[in-house]
Amino acid sequence: MSNLSGTVGFVPTMGALHEGHFKLMNVSQEQNETLLVSIFINPTQFDKVSDLESYPRDIEGDINNIKLRFPNAIVFTPSVEELYGNCVNVSKFDLENLDKTMEGAYRQNHFQGVATVVYKLFDIVEISTAYFGEKDFQQLQIVRLIARKFFSQIKIVGVPIVRHSSGLAMSSRNNLLSEKELEEATLLYRTLFSVKDKTRIQSVEKVKQWVLEEFERHSSFQLEYFEVVDEATLQAIENITSKIKARAFIAARVGKVRLIDNITLSP
Ligand code: PAJ
Repeated sequence: MSNLSGTVGFVPTMGALHEGHFKLMNVSQEQNETLLVSIFINPTQFDKVSDLESYPRDIEGDINNIKLRFPNAIVFTPSVEELYGNCVNVSKFDLENLDKTMEGAYRQNHFQGVATVVYKLFDIVEISTAYFGEKDFQQLQIVRLIARKFFSQIKIVGVPIVRHSSGLAMSSRNNLLSEKELEEATLLYRTLFSVKDKTRIQSVEKVKQWVLEEFERHSSFQLEYFEVVDEATLQAIENITSKIKARAFIAARVGKVRLIDNITLSP
């Protein structure tokens, strides 16, 4: 994909667009002459076929919405063959253990699939900067690693999480929640918000114990993990010091829907 004019800001997505995605496009539009958006549901990052099949799809609606808000945007909707050829294979990247914790521990090969598609997209498009949401902070750090290793000319910008007024992080998966579950799902953010306060005065271990108890009290939730990690390595830490940037991460299931969220613990 060449012939794009001036600086090009790139926003890769899997569609089912919401205000979180549009925020990324806004930031990109403000900082570049050309906005390039891709919509591609990447088969290799789904660990279950059923997840891939049930992923919400509305390519026509998505393109219309992008064009309404960003009339000059270029929308790239490659086919599976275009990106993968006849063989839908996952590459094996050394992701320096960034893929071993949290999401990586619960979703086998997910980040190898993400790294594979991001590598392929960066290879095809000619861009200056790419925009990724902090909603998927672990993914953002892995993309930064891929860019550092293979595409040093591309700058990666992380965009803060866009939330509903209830605090719930916007996500395509929220569409799968009932009214009641939408309300209940705010527990993730409410917990993280309290964690930020609590870690100022209590040990990480104590705060973890409190989170476990909170989720035990709410039986409609299944907590998958709660971790406090160093942003750079994504490895769990026991103490929060001024030398590192600490961030808390949470993943839980409400009914059949899996939700993730995170919050910085730095002042
Ligand atoms: P997708 O889930 O469609 O998300 C596309 C981008 O939007 C990601 O960078 C994600 O972090 C960001 N995003 C989603 N919800 C957000 C929110 N509430 N606030 C801020 N940003 C948000 O992430 C993917 O697609 C794929 O893994 C992809 C990178 C496209 C590779 O296939």
